[in-house]
Amino acid sequence: MKFNKISPELAEIFASIVGHDHMVLPADLEGMERYTHDETEDLRYHPEVVLKPKNAEEISRIMRLCHENLIPVTPRGAGTGLSGGALAVHGGVVLSMERLNAIIDIDERNLQATVEPGVITQVFQEAVIAKGLFYPPDPSSRGSSQLGGNLSESSGGPRAVKYGVTKDYVLNVEVVLPTGEITWTGANVLKNATGYNLTQLMVGSEGTLGVITKIVFKLIPYPTQNLVMLVPFRKEEEAAAAVARIFMAGIVPSALEFMEREAIEWTCRYVGLEMPMSADERAHLLIELDGNDMDLLYKDAERVYEVLETFDVGDILVADTEKQKEDLWRLRRNVGHAVKSNSIYKEEDTVVPRAELPVLLRGVKEIGARYNFKSVCYGHAGDGNLHINIVKGDMSDDDWNNKLPEGIKEIFRLCVSLGGTISGEHGIGLVQRPYIGIALSEVQLRLMQGIKQLFDPNGILNPGKIF
Ligand code: LAC
Ligand code: ZN
Repeated sequence: MKFNKISPELAEIFASIVGHDHMVLPADLEGMERYTHDETEDLRYHPEVVLKPKNAEEISRIMRLCHENLIPVTPRGAGTGLSGGALAVHGGVVLSMERLNAIIDIDERNLQATVEPGVITQVFQEAVIAKGLFYPPDPSSRGSSQLGGNLSESSGGPRAVKYGVTKDYVLNVEVVLPTGEITWTGANVLKNATGYNLTQLMVGSEGTLGVITKIVFKLIPYPTQNLVMLVPFRKEEEAAAAVARIFMAGIVPSALEFMEREAIEWTCRYVGLEMPMSADERAHLLIELDGNDMDLLYKDAERVYEVLETFDVGDILVADTEKQKEDLWRLRRNVGHAVKSNSIYKEEDTVVPRAELPVLLRGVKEIGARYNFKSVCYGHAGDGNLHINIVKGDMSDDDWNNKLPEGIKEIFRLCVSLGGTISGEHGIGLVQRPYIGIALSEVQLRLMQGIKQLFDPNGILNPGKIF
């Protein structure tokens, strides 16, 4: 696809649409900096302009101009993505959604909320909790990530294991198409058998099909009680094996997270937490049970203990203060940042049927030994979703750039052979694009590319992503 540069005349029209104050030009080095990267590795791409529109109408005018003039547009939330989805790899316009940040309505009669895409995930969660309601999708970056970005990647997070991921809460979306048309995708209902599911097509489409301008979410009642425990294992694979067994015992935890020993050690140092571990503890499960009745939760916990007793576990820490719970979650949420602060790294977002987790973990270590890379693994074990952080350490640039991708391909082939796939919640974006053929067949790719063509005939919206 051949794109055009933004002419001074076009830049002036953009300014007349959003206002000079809501436009960042490359000359403003400081203002531009945060729009040149997301949280993916150390990648940087400079757009020609950042536009911060206020509503769907402004976006529609921008999109129409870009469609007609073949200018690439990269929609952007908070830039917390881990696959490079918000990177302006072809330059052009970065369309920042930060000013579309209103919680328009929390409908307590229907347990729904209508929001703009730039609302911070945690701000939304807290606003609905204040009304006794719950929006469970809970990415680690929730303190800064935006709901539109969450929708675009179908973010998950720890509570997905019981409550589902972003897609399970999206009822209806208002989008601006690359041609400038504004449309809703569905209806504000829990059931909808009316034509193709355009709403779910938008979810996880990584900003390649349309620009999200409003979202209607489903909410549920907020569970008032929870129990959090940290369980040390002497063998990583046993921690992974215990996961499926907990579900087989009839318990669905509200979180079931896996962390290798090093993930905990590095994160404790990074956030300044003390967590004594005996020398033989190799991995931990962080388990949360929730509900509305503490007695029932203790009964569920008993059943979890019964399962755990059949493994080689150390002393189980049950958090008995809010502070302790917060610390455990702070630890878990910061693993990604801690690894990043330690070394250049690549993050793989593998997912397999949960009972295959021990096979995946063993395979990753075995592949690492053959390709000579070190990995720190953690993630949403209850979902079979293992984040594999491959750290560069003292690996040569040549091995990192040329040999490692072969090792990553082996990991992904293993996932697929186990019935899994190559991304559970971080998306394909830019960095997993070379590997998509491992997970998707030619038929699947042809259908997806046909959909892209239909929505975006000139290919201007988030080019260079997914395919
Ligand atoms: C997490 C992010 C990286 O699970 O997905 O912490
Ligand atoms: Zn995650």
